[in-house]
Amino acid sequence: MKTYFFYILAVGFTAAACSKKTSQGGTTVQPPPVAVDTMLYKMMPFKMGASVNVNLMKTNASYNGVVTKEYNSITAENAMKFGALHPAQNTFFWTDADYLVDYALSNGKRVHGHTLNWYTSLPSWVTNFSGDSTAWEDLLKTHIQTVVTHFKGKVSSWDVVNEAFNDDGTLRNSIWVQHLGPDYIARCFQYARQADSAVLLFYNDYGHEYSSAKRTAIANMIANFKSRGIPIDGIGLQFHITYTQSDANISTAINMAAATGLKVHIAELDVRLNDAKDQGLVLTQTLADQQAAKYKYVVKAYNTIVPAAQQYGITTWNVGDADSWVPGWLKAPDYPLPFDRNYLRKPAYRAIIEGAK
Ligand code: G3I
Repeated sequence: MKTYFFYILAVGFTAAACSKKTSQGGTTVQPPPVAVDTMLYKMMPFKMGASVNVNLMKTNASYNGVVTKEYNSITAENAMKFGALHPAQNTFFWTDADYLVDYALSNGKRVHGHTLNWYTSLPSWVTNFSGDSTAWEDLLKTHIQTVVTHFKGKVSSWDVVNEAFNDDGTLRNSIWVQHLGPDYIARCFQYARQADSAVLLFYNDYGHEYSSAKRTAIANMIANFKSRGIPIDGIGLQFHITYTQSDANISTAINMAAATGLKVHIAELDVRLNDAKDQGLVLTQTLADQQAAKYKYVVKAYNTIVPAAQQYGITTWNVGDADSWVPGWLKAPDYPLPFDRNYLRKPAYRAIIEGAK
């Protein structure tokens, strides 16, 4: 039995070592020494998720295969946003989101909903909406409750409100603040809770790792919600980070989130390499290893700092480097994810597993 186990291990490692080197921008990066039949989520003590693109799930077998094999939690990258689900005032479009939810549930994966309220990705009927505060309130409530009700019993959790604060800790002057006042955030959570008493409700934002003013504002909002009995179950730290982000900042952000007592979701993790916007940047072995070290630190800090009962899991923001939003945002090449453009594992893949040990 023991001999057989080591034989399997040896075959797995050999297969991994012989698999193609990951090729990016003309250079090659060694694949990590991980057995080919490893499934990432099975190596983790908490849920391991990815945000996914519905079109790629339907049309790219490699993409679909990696999502199915490696992750046990799914977030829709775009298919559950306001504009995608509610393109006209009296029209809801469920097809893409339903496809993802059905896929996830039939493959035993958790679904995290993203997002009920955001300042952007709104359809023009909302940005052009003219109505008094009662009409705006009805618009907000109708959207949240129709969506939460539609996915009731299928979606485990929602990013109820996304990115409501500026980096300086002030409230973003969004269309929602303008029409509904600053306490609209609390009402979003109440409306969601009314529609589903069991679904977990998260506040999600970016920048906890670099802005002490922002993370303090979010912690204050959560404390205020608790004192008023406003329902909130979790905090999402997006963690779109650069590989040069300091370990100290990462642990400070995670500590603050854990101190809320809520569930903590690292909700949109990616580790970018090219804030210098070098148009010719290639992924060298050195850069891939530095990126892996940062992934490992994030996972280790999360697993060490956040009590198990509060660990909602870690979700990467998409799967392979070619699918990432980062190059489009930076307008420069980048390689922020644990899989390369061919869905081969990068050093970051093994680093995630190592970080959880
Ligand atoms: O669907 C249209 C398509 O019909 C059209 O042909 C195409 C032309 O540009 O645009 C398509 O929509 C794009 C959509 O992604 C789907 O690909 C939007 O223009 C584009 O703005 C949108 O970008 C998304 C962005 O959020 C805005 O919603 C990114 O994919 C997505 O990764 C990004 O995700 C956000 C999180 O939701 C919140 N946190 C930050 C994170 C990164 O920005």
